[in-house]
Amino acid sequence: MRISEIDTPAILIDVDVMEANLNRVANYAREHELRLRPHTKTHKIPALGRRQLDLGAVGLTVAKTGEAEVMLATGTPDLLVAYPVIGQKKLDRLVEVARKTRVTVALDSLVAASQLSDAARQAQVEFGVLVETDVGLGRVGVAPGDELVALGKGVANLPRLDLEGFSFYPGHIKAMDELGEAEIGKLSALVERTVHQFRVAGLPVRVVSGGSTPALFHSHLVAGVNEIRPGTYIFNDRNTVECGAAQWDHCAATILSTVVSAARPGHMIIDGGSKTFSTDRLVTGEATFGVVREAPGALFHKMNEEHGYIDLRRADKQDFQVGDRVRVIPNHICVAMNLHERVFGVRGNEVVETWTVAARGKLQ
Ligand SMILES: Cc1ncc(COP(=O)(O)O)c(C=O)c1O
Repeated sequence: MRISEIDTPAILIDVDVMEANLNRVANYAREHELRLRPHTKTHKIPALGRRQLDLGAVGLTVAKTGEAEVMLATGTPDLLVAYPVIGQKKLDRLVEVARKTRVTVALDSLVAASQLSDAARQAQVEFGVLVETDVGLGRVGVAPGDELVALGKGVANLPRLDLEGFSFYPGHIKAMDELGEAEIGKLSALVERTVHQFRVAGLPVRVVSGGSTPALFHSHLVAGVNEIRPGTYIFNDRNTVECGAAQWDHCAATILSTVVSAARPGHMIIDGGSKTFSTDRLVTGEATFGVVREAPGALFHKMNEEHGYIDLRRADKQDFQVGDRVRVIPNHICVAMNLHERVFGVRGNEVVETWTVAARGKLQ
């Protein structure tokens, strides 16, 4: 099949660019002796998780129990749920996953740890645990220092939980400019101190897990980190480029769209809006929603559910006709993937793979 035969809107994955992205990060992790547990929330496709494992990943990361269930199909020896698992329904499902592969949960409360321990005891399974610390994002994670050590000690005393170390998500570090590099320095001092406190307290630091895509290639500068969990790197997107962690030709995913209206001079409407691209803004806060590869300078400035508004007045190419097709690099590919049932692997104009996005919509 050729790209021209695909109906729109549709996500296209350039398989050669994806493969280069996968290899770049696998090589980086190997070179710096970092464990790589890629976050599969970006692609949500077991075949791609399998590819990450074949390239040397020690396991896979998920956010949701439903994603963990789907990723069992990769045959992974290890799954990290980098999200507190709260509530009996999820725990009942997670113990079934834990019967099939090793499962580690990153959590930040004794409530979560006790629930996990009770579920493990009842099901006669064991879970690994990473205690989560907040290094600046202000999302999940207890404060580093005494609070984290106390949580670690509490977890270490609970039956059928195996404390492996601690985890954090440096999502507050976006652009790797001078400020970003200063943040990496601060993070490094913080993590180094935390490792020391764990050792003094007799707590394990077998795993010190951090790493997002924007800060990816600076991970080896964070003293004490021995594991990274990037997700977006497999495809990259406009935000990754904006952060300086990728270049435009590292963006493997584009959203193929058709021009459905060119009625308004200087503007066009494409057949995808917020239900195709997601409404995530550019990391800088700018309210534009993607880059139209065929029309540099165009502004994708507004969306309704099924309409994308493109202002062409400053674009290099302006003479689009109804029926023309364009490829748009989205701001945030992870959310876009969750909106599509199938995506297409392409090489040049040929469609070489069709993947079902098996973990899309697995929010529980
Ligand atoms: C806990 C956690 N780990 C890892 C990642 C992967 O980071 P990125 O999307 O920058 O690749 C995320 C992303 O949201 C995350 O929330």
